[in-house]
Amino acid sequence: MNVLDSFRLEGKAAFVTGAGRGIGKALALALAEAGADVACVDIDPATAAQTAEAIGALGRRARAIACDVTQRPAVDAMVERVAAKFGRLDIAVNNAGVCVNAPAVDYTDDAWRRIIDLNLTAVFYGSRAAGRVMLRQGRGGRIINTASMSAQIVNRPQPQCAYNASKAAVIQLSRSLAAEWAPKGITVNTISPGYTGTELTLALKEYHEHWKRDTPMGRLATPEELKGAVVFLASPAAAFVTGHDLVIDGGFTCW
Ligand SMILES: NC(=O)c1ccc[n+]([C@@H]2O[C@H](COP(=O)([O-])OP(=O)(O)OC[C@H]3O[C@@H](n4cnc5c(N)ncnc54)[C@H](O)[C@@H]3O)[C@@H](O)[C@H]2O)c1
Repeated sequence: MNVLDSFRLEGKAAFVTGAGRGIGKALALALAEAGADVACVDIDPATAAQTAEAIGALGRRARAIACDVTQRPAVDAMVERVAAKFGRLDIAVNNAGVCVNAPAVDYTDDAWRRIIDLNLTAVFYGSRAAGRVMLRQGRGGRIINTASMSAQIVNRPQPQCAYNASKAAVIQLSRSLAAEWAPKGITVNTISPGYTGTELTLALKEYHEHWKRDTPMGRLATPEELKGAVVFLASPAAAFVTGHDLVIDGGFTCW
C-alpha cells in the first residue's frame, strides 16, 4: 500500500464525543476529510447538528446524536445506534471533557465528581461499549481517547488537581485496554494536547501570556493542529501502534 493511501479512512465508521465544538469538532471533521462516516455526539444537540451538517457537506454520511456521555445506559444505546446506522463501527473517539480550576482545599465534592465522571468514567463507558461492538464484529477497531499534557505535568498558574488526575488515569486506562484487546486487533491510544484555543481555554485569557511563556513554541495550538494525530491513529498507518500517548503540545513537556 502506498504510504499516503495508508492514511485513508474510506468505508470506515466513527463516533466522536464532544463533537459539537472545539477539539472534538476538529477531530470529527478530520476523520470525515480522511473518508470516514462520522457520528457527532454531544450533550448539546444544536452544536452536534452543526458539525454533522459540515461533515455531510464533505460528502460523508453523518449523524448528530445528543448524548450525555456520563450516563452509562445512554452511552451503550448511542454506540449501538451508531453501529446500526452505519452498519459498522471502526473508530471510537472519546473526547468530551471539562476542567474546573480551584485550589485543592476549596475543591467541592461536586466539582471533583463532575470531572471524574466526564473525563474518566465516561471515557471508560465509551471505550467499553465500542470494544463490545468491535469484538462482536471481529475485525478489530481503533479507540482514541483525549487525555492531555496535564497527565504528565502540573499546569500553572491555575490549580486543577482533579483534571490532572483524571487525564493521567485516562492514559493508564487506555494502556490497560490496549493490552487486553491487542490480540483482537483493537488498538487503544490517547492524544494529549497542550493548551489549545477552544471555548475551554479562550475564556481564561488572564493565563494566556503565562501559558505561552511556558510553551517552547510560544503560542497555543489551534484545534486543527490536532487533526493529523487522530487520522494517523485511526488509520492503517498506525496498525502496530497501541497503548501510546501522542503528545501535541508545542514542546510544553520539554520544559
Ligand atoms: N483546550 C485545551 O487546551 C485542551 C488541552 C488538553 C486536553 N483537552 C481536552 O480536549 C477535550 C476537548 O476539549 P475542548 O477544549 O474542545 O473543550 P470544549 O469545552 O470546547 O468542548 C467540549 C465539548 O464537550 C461537550 N460535552 C460536555 N459535557 C458533555 C457530556 N456530559 N456529554 C457529551 N458531551 C459533553 C460540550 O458540549 C462541548 O461541545 C477535553 O477532553 C479536554 O480535557 C483540551
